[in-house]
Order: sequence, then structure tokens, then C-alpha cells
Amino acid sequence: MVVALLFCLAMVLNLTSGQYYYQGLMDYLENRFLAIEDRMLIWHEQSNRYNVELRDFKKMTAVFIEGLNQEHGTLRQDLEGTGVRVDRVEREIDYIETQNPARPCVGQADRIVDVEVKMHEKAEQGKEEDGYSRVSDCVDIVSTIRAMKIVKRMDSPKGTWTKDARSSKVYIFNGTAEDTLYEFTSVLDFSASPEMADSRPIRLPSPWSGTGSAVFNGFAYYVTEEAKELRVMKYDLVDGTVTDSAVFPVEVADHRPVYSLNTETAVDLAADEEGLWALYATGESESINLAKMDMDSLDIEQMWDTRCPRENAEAAFVVCGTVYVVYNTRVPSRSRVQCVFDVNDMVTIEEAPLLYFPRRYGAHASLKYNPQEKYLYGWDDGYQIIYKLSMKKKLLV
Ligand SMILES: *[C@@H]1O[C@H](CO)[C@@H](O)[C@H](O)[C@H]1NC(C)=O
Repeated sequence: MVVALLFCLAMVLNLTSGQYYYQGLMDYLENRFLAIEDRMLIWHEQSNRYNVELRDFKKMTAVFIEGLNQEHGTLRQDLEGTGVRVDRVEREIDYIETQNPARPCVGQADRIVDVEVKMHEKAEQGKEEDGYSRVSDCVDIVSTIRAMKIVKRMDSPKGTWTKDARSSKVYIFNGTAEDTLYEFTSVLDFSASPEMADSRPIRLPSPWSGTGSAVFNGFAYYVTEEAKELRVMKYDLVDGTVTDSAVFPVEVADHRPVYSLNTETAVDLAADEEGLWALYATGESESINLAKMDMDSLDIEQMWDTRCPRENAEAAFVVCGTVYVVYNTRVPSRSRVQCVFDVNDMVTIEEAPLLYFPRRYGAHASLKYNPQEKYLYGWDDGYQIIYKLSMKKKLLV
């Protein structure tokens, strides 16, 4: 640009050559151009310097970004490694579960001393209960669930159904706080009956509480919760009268659900080959307690801490003096027996079965054992289901 200007000026000067008049102007312009060139030189230098600085800065950030990328890469690798390890552990757990089932825990009999003393007194008086003397005759242990049958569906998600092992009649306790139960002459009648048309409704004097009712030999045993106490009622299903009742020895401030997944049930009554049992919780204990009750008088004869946790338990049943506690998860998955307690200490850890129920996606509100048929009557999310059990003999030590 400067060269072009000089050229133009030279042309002008040629036209007026010989005239000294313009010499001063020429000098002036030349000085101005020199000054402009100097300043441009400075700008050039400055811009060079800026360029160098910018390059350095870019280099620095490049190194920094590379470092960040590397760290990101290692983090990613670590995460992938962890993922693979978690997968492997999950597969191993699955494998172990199928190949070599986790041992159910087996509680040791933990008798409460003063009750035991009472038992001795009783024995000395020669009035040992018929039920108790049969204890040693019963040596069955559940080995598998060999079949299941869905019989019917009722509207209520929770309830109890059971078959009287003596009379073979079937009883439906629909819901957890009702006072009318339904009697059928057989399972077939129940499954074929539209609504409750073919049943005999039986109105109890007070509503039952929870899913812990039991029926044996023409009597309904159920728990009421009134005036801050839990009371076990014995109701004659033929005569329609309450024949006895007893306050259950649990402080009301204490009483908590016996199974954490079925909060309505404070006491669960069970009838088996040996008589009447009650499963319950006390305030201090995180585990399920067991009491043996006299079927006639409702006396409590003996008590144990089963050491089976209440947490995640949904139900339990008693077979031949052995308690089987059934566990599930809050989002119902597969029910399984994971804790076993034998009052006679005859079930060892090795032979205690890990029983999985057939895969269904509800949760059991109750499971009632029928000792005559060796069936479980289950109420699973509104469905009435029969589970058929296979038995083996306890190892006698
Ligand atoms: C059973 O209980 C459910 C829910 O509480 C109720 O809707 C249904 O009518 C009851 N069925 C009978 C036969 O009582």
C-alpha cells in the first residue's frame, strides 16, 4: 500500500518536475510515511507476540485436556471392571442358590423356665395332655412342595381359608377384620359356588383380627383386638357359642405384627398333628415367638423364641412341631421357607429344607396346614391355593 502511494506521488511530482516549490511537501510526506511504517512495525511485533502467547496458551490447554481425557478413560475402565464383577457375583449367587441352596437357619429351642416348671408339675400330677404325649410320635419334616392348585379367586386381597382336619369342612375368613365366615362341605363346593351361595354363613360375636384364624375339630380359634388387649376366642361352630377365651400375654403397647409383610396379624394361630400353636411378636424381640396352647382350655403350656426374624416374613406354618417361616420381599417375588424351628430340636441344619413356592407374583396373606391331607391352604393376593407337600422323616439322634 505504501509503495502504491509513493508511486502515485512520484507521478504527480513528474508532472511538476523542476519546481522546488514541492520539495517541502515531499519531505513532509516521506516523514509521515516513515512514521506510519514504524507504527505498523510495532503493531506487527505486538501481534506476533500475541500470536506466540496464544499458541502457548493453546498448548497448555491441550495438555490439560489430554490429562482430563486420560482420567475419564481410566474412570470408565474402572466402572466397566466393576460392572463385570457385579455381574459375575450375581451369576455366582444364582448358581449357588440353585446348586447348593443357602441353609435355612434353624433356631434352637429356647424354653422359658417357669413354664417348663409348670409342665413338670403337670406331668408329676399324671395329667399330661394327650397332645403333648404324642409329640415324639410325629417325626415328619416337609421335603418339597410337590404340586399346587388354584381353587378360586375372592375379591379381598387378604384372608384365611382352611379345612378342618377332623370334620373335612372348609372355612373361609374373607378379609382381616370381618365377623362373618363361610362354611362349605367340601373344597369342590367352595370352588363351584358362585359368590357364597352354597355356604353356611356363620356370624361370630366379635370380628377377627388379621389372618391368624384356625379351625380344628368343629371349633374356630380366632384373635380379637378389643379394649387394648388381644384375646384368643374358641367358638363352637356347631352350637354357635363361644366356649372359652383367654387374654394373650402380650402387652398391647408392645404388640406388633408377627410378620413384617402382613401388618394386620398380631397373633397367628396354627393347628397341626400336635395341637394348637400361636406365633406372635413381643416388643423387645426382632424374632418370632412361639407358644403351645391347650386346644380345650386355651392354657399356654410352653413358649419359645424361634430366632426366626420377623423382618420380611409373610407367613408361617407348623408341621409336626416344626415351624416353617415363609419370607418374601416388599415388592413380592418368590416366597420361600428360609427359617425353620423345631421345638424338639430334632431338625438339624443339614436336613432343614429350603423350600421355594411355585413362582407367583403375589404375597401370601396366610398359609394353613392340614395335617390329615398334608396340604397347605394359602391365600395369595385374593387367590385360594392348595399346596401339596411331600414329607420325609426327621433324622432321629
Ligand atoms: C370379601 O371381601 C371383599 C373385600 O373386603 C368384598 O368386596 C367381598 O364382597 C367379600 N366377599 C364376600 C363373599 O363376603
